[in-house]
Amino acid sequence: MNVTKQIFQPNPEFQKTARIKSMDEYYALCKKAEDNYEGFWGDYAKEKITWKKPFTNVLDESNAPFYSWFDGGTLNVSEQCIDRHLEDKKNKVAIIFEGDKGDNQMITYLQLHHNVNKFANLLKNKFGVKKGDRVVIYMPMIPEAAYAMLACARIGAIHSIVFGGFSAEALKDRIKDADAKVVITADGAYRKGKAYMLKPVVDEALKGDTPVEKVCVVQRNYEDVTWVAGRDYSYNEMIDNESSVCEAEEMDSEDPLFLLYTSGSTGSPKGVQHNTAGYILWAQMTMEWVFDVKDNDTFWCTADVGWITGHTYIVYGPLAMGATTLMFEGVPTYPDAGRCWKMVEKHKINQFYTAPTAIRVLHKMGENEPSKYDISSLKVLGTVGEPIDPPAWKWYYEEVGNSKCAIVDTYWQTETGGHIVSPLPGATPIKPACATFPLPGIIGEILDPETGIKVAKGESGYMCITKPWPSMIRAVWGDPERFKKSYFGDVKKDGKPVYFTGDGANYDEDGYITITGRTDDVINVSGHRMGTAEVEAALKKDPNVAEVAVCGRPHEIKGESIFAYVVLKNALDETRFEDDVAMVKELNNIIKKEIGNIALCDDIIFVPGLPKTRSGKIMRRLLRSIAKKEEITQDISTLEDPAVVKQIEAIVKG
Ligand code: WTA
Repeated sequence: MNVTKQIFQPNPEFQKTARIKSMDEYYALCKKAEDNYEGFWGDYAKEKITWKKPFTNVLDESNAPFYSWFDGGTLNVSEQCIDRHLEDKKNKVAIIFEGDKGDNQMITYLQLHHNVNKFANLLKNKFGVKKGDRVVIYMPMIPEAAYAMLACARIGAIHSIVFGGFSAEALKDRIKDADAKVVITADGAYRKGKAYMLKPVVDEALKGDTPVEKVCVVQRNYEDVTWVAGRDYSYNEMIDNESSVCEAEEMDSEDPLFLLYTSGSTGSPKGVQHNTAGYILWAQMTMEWVFDVKDNDTFWCTADVGWITGHTYIVYGPLAMGATTLMFEGVPTYPDAGRCWKMVEKHKINQFYTAPTAIRVLHKMGENEPSKYDISSLKVLGTVGEPIDPPAWKWYYEEVGNSKCAIVDTYWQTETGGHIVSPLPGATPIKPACATFPLPGIIGEILDPETGIKVAKGESGYMCITKPWPSMIRAVWGDPERFKKSYFGDVKKDGKPVYFTGDGANYDEDGYITITGRTDDVINVSGHRMGTAEVEAALKKDPNVAEVAVCGRPHEIKGESIFAYVVLKNALDETRFEDDVAMVKELNNIIKKEIGNIALCDDIIFVPGLPKTRSGKIMRRLLRSIAKKEEITQDISTLEDPAVVKQIEAIVKG
């Protein structure tokens, strides 16, 4: 069976009770947004958000591209996620925690309220955190990470979560850029049955000059850590002294909620800023539409809270709608590749959301594992982070979903706050490995980059969003010019700059959208965004390196892996062109130190020079082709030194 050619209709049983039940309903919603854009969003904002003060204006476009939504309104995201559910859901489980070793905690909405209020008071009273302050969170996947986020939201502090896999250097850069005065971390946690540590990384990051005054340490594994007097304090020792009543700060719709650093095609990572009302509105609405979570459902997103998926679909989205969300400390393959399915059986998971890279690993390591467990509770399966390949899709659909679950291939980005292009499980006829259609209210269009005209069916172009939407990025922290240049610089429609995602997309004969991947120098490794510029900057720190260029190359499990071309300083020494194992190790150690293990290069090749134009621009497209071992068909005669291409090809082909 060639799955890519097939269309899968929604499951009729599921359709009966789905929030959006048919394509007619989908089109009607799209039309409503088209006919009266502000009315569409204004109605949902009134219905879904518990306002302290109602908004007076839906959308202000006067300072484009710095858009403003729901001006005049005030709210607090922690109240939206917790307090408003206490009346009828106080004993409902908000968070199910499953530890690496299989230990569980069930945290009800009432308990969540207590824990978040106490944490908020602790931050205020003992750590001096005030509204508008930045707090860096460097945490494992434990409930306290969610409490920390919500506690910041409660007192109006802006959190910036740094993924636990980033190195001390990367953490330090992010702390400094955000000018954070407090770091919340943990001693460490458990992974694959063993304790691992985070606090030493924080200690390293805080060496030298940083804006950090205090560190709050959650003790999870109780391993020995260093305590710096006057700086480091134990959460566990102090939390019980705090009151469980903390009045929520009244926040404006456009007050910042959080920063999340992400890679772009140039320079250092940028602090993507999301604000309060628009973000939480779309987080909640996409939970309802795309996962169609019902009151008795249990939702599991396997992401880490250090990425946007963890923000929107482990914490903010599920809690805003009053759902039960699962948080998992461990890894999907420990103690074996059946772990996820065992957990689906144990917690009766109804919606399971993960990344293609995880699906490929689980498929490869445990093809028959799903059949060993009762996973019949599953209704919707989601994927995110990178294009999914048809074989992985087929296994997910047939073996995990038993050919009855909808697969929602959700396309979005850190910058979009929530899903933008995705199937709706009760409405959309699905094509495998295809994100299908823009969600209602999101004006997603594939444009010709030159003309800004929407491409015809059957053609490809740049994936753009041509109207502002509530959960869009509001700013690059501290750099308004970079914000404009990064997102509103490349494509114009009718002469007006529009938001460009950085991704290419194909518009097929039936009007379906398939995302084809980045058009810029961003590499997607296991669903993690890495900028070539960042990796190159790290490698250049080695005193032996003269020049370097990195690119992505297709990888069976990771989607893409990082491939580095390095010119060493004594490049005339022929012996240095050979694969030098010690040098490769040294270079990867630098990456480990500067960025973290997630950016390690699978291939490091020593070359005599890089292919450049006469004006000195590195021909990255050529390097990508060589890394893929493709035949070079491009004209290379205009290069500064065409001979170098043959030399590089010979080295890569080995
Ligand atoms: C890619 C993750 C194809 C895309 C939520 C995007 C996808 C980048 C999909 C954002 C998908 C995400 N199909 N590609 N369903 N979802 N991407 O910011 O290249 O970590 O620009 O956000 O991942 O990555 P980010």
